[in-house]
Amino acid sequence: HGDPRIKAISDAIRVVPHFPKPGIMFQDITTLLLDQKAFKYTIDIFVDRYRDKKISVVAGVEARGFIFGPPIALAIGAKFVPLRKPKKLPGEVISEAYVLEYGTDCLEMHVGAVQPGESVLIVDDLVATGGTLSAAIRLLERVGAEVVECACVIGLPQVKGNWRLNGVPMYVLVEPR
Ligand code: PRP
Repeated sequence: HGDPRIKAISDAIRVVPHFPKPGIMFQDITTLLLDQKAFKYTIDIFVDRYRDKKISVVAGVEARGFIFGPPIALAIGAKFVPLRKPKKLPGEVISEAYVLEYGTDCLEMHVGAVQPGESVLIVDDLVATGGTLSAAIRLLERVGAEVVECACVIGLPQVKGNWRLNGVPMYVLVEPR
């Protein structure tokens, strides 16, 4: 990226060492949200990339995909679908488990929220192992949707460039600091 907005976005993300556990360098996007310019750059870059891709669904991963997903969905004329942690959605759901460092977690989506053949963009704040996004991709593919891309604000360097997850392209703006 020769885009000066990328540096502004990276600079606005606060790194909190040893949170929530010793050794973890937590990438805190709440400071990006406080910087109106940098937050707008973030949304603008995604909107420019996805506005003409005929995407009808933006699916956001709990919790921080719920912050970045909706403004993108509104700007590109797509609906927003939340992919939630277990037992939060009141309707009929489908679930996909994924592996964590210790144990497993699960993402759920309302049945009927996405129709077969729809084109979907999946949004989250950060990709690390890719386990969470893999589960999100599986959920959408199980209902017959096509996942066009996964978009994250932050991703490890190896994720930048031509990295793919289950065959789905990944787009990230900045590396962790
Ligand atoms: C973080 C982050 C991603 C996920 C990425 O969420 O927001 O959703 O981890 O990790 P992975 O690529 O290794 O799967 P977290 O699990 O902390 O949940 P939260 O958003 O509910 O706090």
